[in-house]
Amino acid sequence: MQFFVDTANIDEIKEAQAMGVLDGVTTNPSLMSKESGNFDEIIREICEIVDGPVSAEVVSTDFDGMMAEARKNAAIHEQVVVKIPIILDGLKAVKACSNEGIRTNVTLCFSPTQALMAAKAGASYISPFIGRLDDLGQDGMDLIATIRQIYNNYGFETQVLAASLRSTKHVVECALAGADVVTLPPDVLKKLLTHPLTDSGLERFLADWKSWEEGKK
Ligand code: E4P
Repeated sequence: MQFFVDTANIDEIKEAQAMGVLDGVTTNPSLMSKESGNFDEIIREICEIVDGPVSAEVVSTDFDGMMAEARKNAAIHEQVVVKIPIILDGLKAVKACSNEGIRTNVTLCFSPTQALMAAKAGASYISPFIGRLDDLGQDGMDLIATIRQIYNNYGFETQVLAASLRSTKHVVECALAGADVVTLPPDVLKKLLTHPLTDSGLERFLADWKSWEEGKK
């Protein structure tokens, strides 16, 4: 399973990269709006920090606008994956990008049929939003499992990129459901490593070691 971090913040990305397990980055217009600076420069800098795919989202909603942005974003850096929402013109843009060799991450996916359409159009990644479904009282993880099954049934190569994750439990459930990638808020990425019993256990080991050493004096 690949780990992406879901942020456009350079410091957070550097910190995640330093952990040594980062495979890529996803951004979106809301995350980008929290940063200062120029879109192209931020995306280029992220690509220079991380050796993996970096999603850069379009904000046009018509086919021509999306394609113009897709070509511009893809030209920023070879690691860029163009993020496109799953609307009608978005689907057409995904197909056109696929024909032009531009990789795409199809975003705002909330149903199996949207994922099926994205795969048929040649999407590189599909991003089902788990947390936002859970927020509505639906089971986001069901969507991951269903898309996994559909893609397996027909041999689609589109990667399942589980998005809108809120917890470490989500990550475990995504791994069990066979998601190819999880994109995580930086705090959730850090929490994957921690456990209170590890901390208290280490504290005890070090205290016992110290008293043993002191007893030899
Ligand atoms: C996915 O690529 C999105 O950027 C992100 O995961 C959305 O998460 P949110 O629902 O926490 O905003």
